[in-house]
Amino acid sequence: MYTQAMDLPGQGTGPQPVEASADDAAALARQAQFDARIDHDHKIEPRDWMPEAYRRTLVRQISQHAHSEVVGMLPEGNWITRAPSLRRKAILLAKVQDEGGHGLYLYSAAETLGVSRDDMIAALLSGKAKYSSIFNYPTLSWADMGCIGWLVDGAAIMNQIPLCRCSYGPYARAMIRICKEESFHQRQGYELMLALCNGTPEQKAMAQEAFDRWWWPVVMMFGPSDKDSIHSAQTMQWGIKRISNDDLRQKFIDATVPQAELLGLQIPDPDLKWNEQTGHYDYGAIDWDEFWRVVNGDGPCNRERLETRRRAHENGAWVREAALVYARKQAARRQREAA
Ligand SMILES: [Fe+2]
Ligand SMILES: [Fe+2]
Repeated sequence: MYTQAMDLPGQGTGPQPVEASADDAAALARQAQFDARIDHDHKIEPRDWMPEAYRRTLVRQISQHAHSEVVGMLPEGNWITRAPSLRRKAILLAKVQDEGGHGLYLYSAAETLGVSRDDMIAALLSGKAKYSSIFNYPTLSWADMGCIGWLVDGAAIMNQIPLCRCSYGPYARAMIRICKEESFHQRQGYELMLALCNGTPEQKAMAQEAFDRWWWPVVMMFGPSDKDSIHSAQTMQWGIKRISNDDLRQKFIDATVPQAELLGLQIPDPDLKWNEQTGHYDYGAIDWDEFWRVVNGDGPCNRERLETRRRAHENGAWVREAALVYARKQAARRQREAA
């Protein structure tokens, strides 16, 4: 998922700018055309007119989503060299590589809205742009690879499936492919957990310990509760967001509890219980102080993650320079041949 930051305060889209005076018939017609497309569930494409606030909201959401994919490579990248078998290493490598690919599709989708990739990356590296708080937690054991795939990618799917129907065409199309890959990520994580839970008592204990650490941060991944979610109403109206944070969270918990039971894992929430009346699981209070602390930069790994990204960006400078020189040479050659 990784789109929780769209609901955070301090990054508001602000009031929609007045496009023209009320008697400007052309402006009114453009707005009416846009509204009609949204109402009819038609896609908005890059060359279509769109309200500035809609464009800015999408830039913020898609770029934060892209950053989350790229920063999300770090917690798992930490374990590639320590995977316990060649098979597990190949799976983890492929998964982490997929996340890099997701970042690239999403940066490309955001670029269709008129922002440059350089600016988006600069905002990430300066700490100005947000990314999903889940990646600011450490990966302490091999079982964390299972928990991330099963739970973090599982939560991502829950959040991203509705985005395949997002009103902005390039974002919706990127999400279709991403969701297919996320489904493989979720399955490989669950299969890893299954192997640990069916293994030795030490392996089972390792799985439970990791699950205890990840459960609540994953439940928080869906973002602030609906009553504190400041952009939700507008993004729903624009057809960017389709299901509320709390509804998605409930869907995730309802789907995950039976999976945990199958693994024989205890859910670290004494208040969790099936509610016959609502047909859903009730769950305990979320520690929103922890959520805001991590979102605002004070999680266990915030500084480390950004530092690693900055180093990677600096170390990759020669690749970008070489690619530019190569592109210029190719263009010059084409010009010469055409002359
Ligand atoms: Fe991803
Ligand atoms: Fe993933």
